[in-house]
Amino acid sequence: MAKQLEQIKSECSECMLCPLGQTRTNIVFGVGNPNAELMFVGEAPGESEDLTGIPFVGRAGKLFDKFLLAVGIDRNEVYIANILKCRPPQNRDPKPEEEDLCTRYLDEQIEAIKPKYIVCLGRIAAMRLIKEDFRIMSEHGVWFEKEKYKICAVLHPSAILRDPRKNELMLKDMMNIRDVVFGEERH
Ligand code: URA
Repeated sequence: MAKQLEQIKSECSECMLCPLGQTRTNIVFGVGNPNAELMFVGEAPGESEDLTGIPFVGRAGKLFDKFLLAVGIDRNEVYIANILKCRPPQNRDPKPEEEDLCTRYLDEQIEAIKPKYIVCLGRIAAMRLIKEDFRIMSEHGVWFEKEKYKICAVLHPSAILRDPRKNELMLKDMMNIRDVVFGEERH
């Protein structure tokens, strides 16, 4: 039997498996519908997320919310989590050993939620969940079949903040995700 999300969260909140446990303010476990068909997975908490314990609430999160709104996906109907549950100092990239230790929680979340679709937000999540040599600029928006779900990646919202010309690409991918997951009638 899959563990319940609350149980996984309570185990995660005690976690000291890697040094990030010593510098976090809060774990950022994940939020949303525990029965979601669609799950988004980002990289790691930033400063605002560390302070609130909620994923994607900072600048990148606000932009992500705009894309969700633009394509008619309600944040409450999906589930949003990250590869790492604790903030890396100065928002550096997660270290492979941190990911190795932390993904047990994400694996358990996926087991509990059983989403039909997973969308990776950015390269780091895609390299961990889709394939090690994932190329975000050539493979974003492409669906891959895993045993238990379909999975694709979109650009990380921070990458769009850095280069707003990528806005259109993101919007196109998000519209495709909406059509695949919820059907074309939701426009
Ligand atoms: N970036 C991420 O990848 N995840 C968050 O929760 C916030 C910013």
